[in-house]
Amino acid sequence: MTEGRARQGMEGASYRPRNLGFGELITVLVSEHAAMRAGLEKAKEAASRHDFRVVGFELRKLDPLFRQHITDEESQVLRLLVGTIGKERAAEEIRVFQQHRPIFALMQKASELATLSSDELEAKQEELSALFEEHALAEQARVFPKALSLAGGGSTEEVPFHDRKI
Ligand SMILES: [Fe+2]
Ligand SMILES: [Fe+2]
Repeated sequence: MTEGRARQGMEGASYRPRNLGFGELITVLVSEHAAMRAGLEKAKEAASRHDFRVVGFELRKLDPLFRQHITDEESQVLRLLVGTIGKERAAEEIRVFQQHRPIFALMQKASELATLSSDELEAKQEELSALFEEHALAEQARVFPKALSLAGGGSTEEVPFHDRKI
């Protein structure tokens, strides 16, 4: 791995931005929202049956996907927005990307609770799914179309939120 291009993940693992054309990257990110939504749904459903083993399994599966996903969003999408229109005009997009840490913290908390079989787990899974939905909607309705138009992709149309490609 080239150290200069490596990004430090939130807990030490390094993830590098994927080398994709910008339009293709956005398509991949949208597909990953669908995959993450499906995984979170399975975890939430398992939490409601108090099947803690399955919750832990689903959350562990999502972890590397989530880390790679936000590496690309922050190092490619956010970088393009800030680099093109500046921090002030990208303030709303910066705010959306600031949700990554709370989402990740909730995933970590839910994983911990799953090992403790805590009753809090169900509520945490609900909170996690709701925050993720709000976040993915903001990205697809506002952030990605703006980034695509700035990248010269030409599209300013909303990227369909429920475009489940996986
Ligand atoms: Fe995101
Ligand atoms: Fe995303």
